[in-house]
Order: sequence, then structure tokens, then C-alpha cells
Amino acid sequence: MSKVFTNAAQRIMVALDVDELSQAKELAEELKGLGITFKIGNQLGTYEGWKAAVEFAHSYDAQIFCDTKFKDIPTTVEKSSKAITRRQPEFFNIMADNNLEALKAAVRGIDTAVEEFGLAERPILLGVTVLTSISEQESEEIYGGVPSEKVLQFAKNAAEAGLDGIVCSAQEVKLLRSDPATKNLLLVTPGIRPEWAAPNDQSRIITPSQAIKDGSDYLVIGRPITQPPEEVGSPRKAVLRIIKELEEVK
Ligand code: C5P
Repeated sequence: MSKVFTNAAQRIMVALDVDELSQAKELAEELKGLGITFKIGNQLGTYEGWKAAVEFAHSYDAQIFCDTKFKDIPTTVEKSSKAITRRQPEFFNIMADNNLEALKAAVRGIDTAVEEFGLAERPILLGVTVLTSISEQESEEIYGGVPSEKVLQFAKNAAEAGLDGIVCSAQEVKLLRSDPATKNLLLVTPGIRPEWAAPNDQSRIITPSQAIKDGSDYLVIGRPITQPPEEVGSPRKAVLRIIKELEEVK
């Protein structure tokens, strides 16, 4: 079953894809108090450090999704997961196209950190399935199957290993919700474009309301919020418009 949200803002993860914290802070000032989650990727996390990134988000009372995308041998995944958990983000992720042992190791890393450091909360662990930048042909070459097939396989592994959810394209949401093995996973969907926003370099896009209707839990939205079109006005106004759109979903 998908997560119960008490308001539409909780579903929005804004991708703060900027180089430096000073730029992220300008956006955070704009987005203060809206109750949305900040998604920080390796672009900022690597330069400023995850410690600074988590402290930054929490100083604005925002939840943080550390888009760490760990992929390595199980021992290293376990240690990396333990390390990021110690920083206490609300969400982080690993690549789900790894072996089952590495996925289980991530869960163990969280368990160890929670116990060893006496943490009150455990982070939500997400698995990235097939990146949307990978074409059908590339998926065949790399994984030996088309994206929908491989997404389902990686999602099943994620569920078996004890991950809380996955990152997937909106195209796969219905399929994942209909399979008993994956229907209870949290589904996080990028490639979201309100009707008023430019597609940028995203090719397979979906509106916020359609993504929710299809069964997504969280929506990752970057440029429509951080670089809104002139007629929308500002990042804050962009979020408020998206919230309104989500509130109108029946
Ligand atoms: O600006 P935009 O809304 O396209 O930003 C989408 C965010 O989601 C970026 O941070 C991008 O890295 C991330 N993402 C994606 N497609 C995926 C996985 C992550 O666009 N398959």
C-alpha cells in the first residue's frame, strides 16, 4: 500500500541541482516553510559534503533526500549506508541493479548505524532501478532485457532485500503497483512536468496529477520549480501551483 500523506506538499521532492550551498540557500529561502523535501545530488553532496548538505536542509526544517546512488561491493555499500545514516537524512538511495547481497548490506548498514549511534529514526532507503537516460537498446545490451522487465526485476530484489521503495519512471508505476511483490514499495518518480513547464532534456514526462493518479508516492521535480517560466513567477509560486494541482486530484 502506498504511504498515507497528510498534505500534498509532502509528496514533492525538489531537486536542488546547484553547485554550491550558497545557491541552494537562495532557493531554500524562497521555499521556506512549504513542507517539501530537498533532494540533493552528488553534484552538491560531493563538493560541500553530505554533512553540510543535511545540516543545511534541516536548518530550513526541510527533509532531505540524499541522492547518493551507492553501487559497490556489499561491504562497501554497507559501510557507506552506515555512514550516511549517521548523518540522519530522511531518505537516501542505492543502485538497485546490484546483487541481492549488496542490497541487503545497505539495510544492514542502516540497522548498525541506528543501533550503534542510538538514532531515533531510520532513513527511508530507496533503490534506483533503470535510469531513464538508458534507452531500450542500451538496456538490452547492459542488462539483457527491456527497461520494464528489468525495472520489475530490480524492484522485486529491492523488496526482497528490505528496501522501502524505489526510484522509477512514471511509465513503470502501474506495472509495479499491479505486481504483488512490488505493490507495497514507495514509488518515487522523476521526469515530472506540469503543463506550464518546459520539458528541458526530459523525454518521457508526466504531469504531477497524472503521476499521483497512476500510483506514485513522491514526485521529484527540479527545473519547473528552480527555473520556473516567467508567467509562473518564482520557485515558491511554482510549488504552490503544483500543490494546488495535486490537491485537485480526486
Ligand atoms: O529538472 P528536472 O525536474 O528534470 O530534475 C529531475 C531530477 O531527477 C534531477 O535531479 C535528475 O538527476 C533526477 N533524475 C531523473 N531521472 C532519473 C533519476 C533521477 O531525472 N531516472
